Amino acid sequence: MPVCDPLFNETRRRARRVYLGLIMQELDQTVTIGATVPTGFEHTAAEEVQEKLEATARVSKNRGRIYFDITTDKLLKVHQLKSLDNLFVVVKEYDDYQFKTTKEEVQLDWQELATKLPWTNALEVWKLNNSIKKKKGRRKRTNPTKSDQCGNVGTKSTDTVPSDPEELWEDLEALEVKGNQRDVSSQPENDSEEEKHSEIQDQESGVTPLKFRVTCNRAGDKHCFTSNDAARDFGGAVQEFFQWKADMTKFDVEVLLNIHNNEVVVGIALTVESLHRRNITHFGPTTLRSTLAYGMLRLCKPQVSDVIVDPMCGTGAIPLEGVMEWENSFFLAGDNNGTAVSRSVNNIKHILKRTHDGGSSSGLPLDIIQWDLCNLPMRSSSVDIIITDMPFGKRMGSKKKNWELYPLCLREMARVCKPGTGKAVLLTQDKKCFLKALSQMEGLWRKLHTVWVNVGGLHAGVFVLKRTAVVFGTTSEVVMEPHTATGSQKENMKDASQ
Ligand SMILES: C[S@@+](CC[C@H](N)C(=O)[O-])C[C@H]1O[C@@H](n2cnc3c(N)ncnc32)[C@H](O)[C@@H]1O
Repeated sequence: MPVCDPLFNETRRRARRVYLGLIMQELDQTVTIGATVPTGFEHTAAEEVQEKLEATARVSKNRGRIYFDITTDKLLKVHQLKSLDNLFVVVKEYDDYQFKTTKEEVQLDWQELATKLPWTNALEVWKLNNSIKKKKGRRKRTNPTKSDQCGNVGTKSTDTVPSDPEELWEDLEALEVKGNQRDVSSQPENDSEEEKHSEIQDQESGVTPLKFRVTCNRAGDKHCFTSNDAARDFGGAVQEFFQWKADMTKFDVEVLLNIHNNEVVVGIALTVESLHRRNITHFGPTTLRSTLAYGMLRLCKPQVSDVIVDPMCGTGAIPLEGVMEWENSFFLAGDNNGTAVSRSVNNIKHILKRTHDGGSSSGLPLDIIQWDLCNLPMRSSSVDIIITDMPFGKRMGSKKKNWELYPLCLREMARVCKPGTGKAVLLTQDKKCFLKALSQMEGLWRKLHTVWVNVGGLHAGVFVLKRTAVVFGTTSEVVMEPHTATGSQKENMKDASQ
């Protein structure tokens, strides 16, 4: 261990002083913030960063991440952005890290890296962040293992094969839910002496050492190590350097080691749980992440006084996100499932209570109705934007039913949407069925573009459609009556063609 290295000792001293709050540096220093975002919405997130922070974000090669520089006085604003899931402050980025070819060499490199990294600024940001962020509690964990066979040091790791390096954070969460315990909370096998030594030091100095863990996310097929190896070895080096204590569940500092081929980013987490956990208190089987809902809403570019409809709202993630950000538009949402409607209503009530408790007396420009999308109780050409997350036919509905449902949906949406200006932003994983249904409606909808996203590990499309100027009921595909059309649906069609 290079204890005689003056740089090593100075860095360590400074890090300790940061922890003690002794370094009173200017608060407007520039730091690089990294953020995980819904895969596919990196550019949408970058747009939001530009718009609200006036910072230019770089989209990482590693999909689902962006990076941007801010002065630390903007840290609170970063937490208020709507596109970002998890935040971290970058300690150091390497675009082309030269990994050695044997595990032993790589391990030595991790040890050296831990002593050389410019930790101080990042730790100051971490400390500042602690003082401003809402105390959201620790990550919920399922039965964490006390120790593992390998003697891992406060590490958590995921390896991702290059073909599917997306949504690493989501994968981590999925692992947690499944109780798949890759996590370990352990002390190194030989740490009893070291432990005693550092405890004595701590007692002498009156400081309780920080608890930490290292989380490694790795993607790439040219590494001679796994993410477990990297997390364990780098974790050991960090522990040795700072004399922190490893703790998988009650950690103060989460050191992130993100490896994507030759790109290495070391960071310190600034969020305990993803920022997408907002708005929703009553969840359903397919509740959409608020960050994804936000990305979809941005694609619509809502304007003041727009009427925006989510006809299959489930628990209301999209309209709720909408009213929180675009309060000058009017949102109408519905679902044919009574339980889903109740959940949406409860979610609205909860937000209203929160805003009332916060001193606001105004309501929300949002209404929820139980309805059948194939027969909307709405006037033709009355809606500016339709935005919805359709049943994929996996957890909700069935692929077979989609063949009937999707054409009916697109037809009824075309009826209520304003010809020439109306838009639809529709999320589905059942791409084949959707595109087929859309091809039958060519006269009514024009596909502008598709954003490919990852929804809970599923590859889905957000289809952005423009309502053509064609009057509903005047094209052959529309006058052709669906065999399941109800009486009032037929009435609607008649109305529209008059
Ligand atoms: C993927 S889920 C939407 C999830 C929602 N975005 C959320 O955050 O909870 C699709 C929804 O479509 C609803 N649905 C299916 N067929 C429908 C129909 N014909 N009319 C209205 N809603 C329908 C289902 O009940 C379900 O709640």
